[in-house]
Amino acid sequence: MNNSKIYIHPAPVRIWHWINAIGIIMLVLTGMQIRFAEQINILSLQKAISLHNYTGFVVLADYLLWLVYYFSTGKIQIYIPDLRTFPVKAFNQIKFYGYGIFKGDPNPHTMTPENKFNPMQQMAYIKLMFIVLPAQIFSGLFLWQVKRFGDYIDLLGGIKIVDTIHVLLFFFFAAFLIVHCYLATLGHTPLAHFKAMFTGYEEHHGHAEMPGEFALPENAAARANSLTGNKYAVLDGLENKPVVKMTN
Ligand code: HEM
Repeated sequence: MNNSKIYIHPAPVRIWHWINAIGIIMLVLTGMQIRFAEQINILSLQKAISLHNYTGFVVLADYLLWLVYYFSTGKIQIYIPDLRTFPVKAFNQIKFYGYGIFKGDPNPHTMTPENKFNPMQQMAYIKLMFIVLPAQIFSGLFLWQVKRFGDYIDLLGGIKIVDTIHVLLFFFFAAFLIVHCYLATLGHTPLAHFKAMFTGYEEHHGHAEMPGEFALPENAAARANSLTGNKYAVLDGLENKPVVKMTN
């Protein structure tokens, strides 16, 4: 089997991601202390607010790093789903996560630097990075200086609305962290995607099927070749399922 390494996460993405991850975890924890000050007593309210505000600015600066990197390199297109192929690819991906993965089927998506995300990731990440995270950053900024941003707060319907948006998104992020970490364990080993987010390199195990390729049980490819006079070229594949391609 052909196990190769591909450089999938460039340094700016890794730096952005881990600062962002630590920042959001800190914001969720300090946010809990602020919101449930009567039930939780780990930090004083004053300390929790000040830590929450500083961390908010770190996450904001980090978000600008993400924006500048992805737009200046043109790589932002990896976040944008191709609407023509989206329905079929998304269906295959959902089928894989809901069923195929438990049978050891190969992942229908092959990760490359230009096509890093499967369609479900594209859909989730584009909303996360262009709607949810900016909404959380802006609502946080408005709550930080209510007087200064009074006009914007009024435009949104008042302080209660802004506060509700901020708290609902806080619950979203708390839940997102759990789901995101679970999905990140679904690489060829549970830690593979985590390691890749540190080193930049993802190990390529197996091969998604392209038109004209088939996944066959082990030995079947060799048997088919001996019967047909080497008509099938073995590419690679998952443990017990070589991917073969018909040759003319
Ligand atoms: C404990 C915290 C976190 C861990 C362990 C973690 C882990 C990972 C891993 C392993 C990947 C690579 C696999 C993949 O693309 O799905 C990834 C990618 C990603 N994560 Fe996280 N993550 C964390 C927190 C966050 C948070 C808080 C956000 C956003 C608010 C986030 C947003 C993203 C995005 C957008 C990507 C794709 C990055 C890119 O390649 O451009 N992550 N994360």
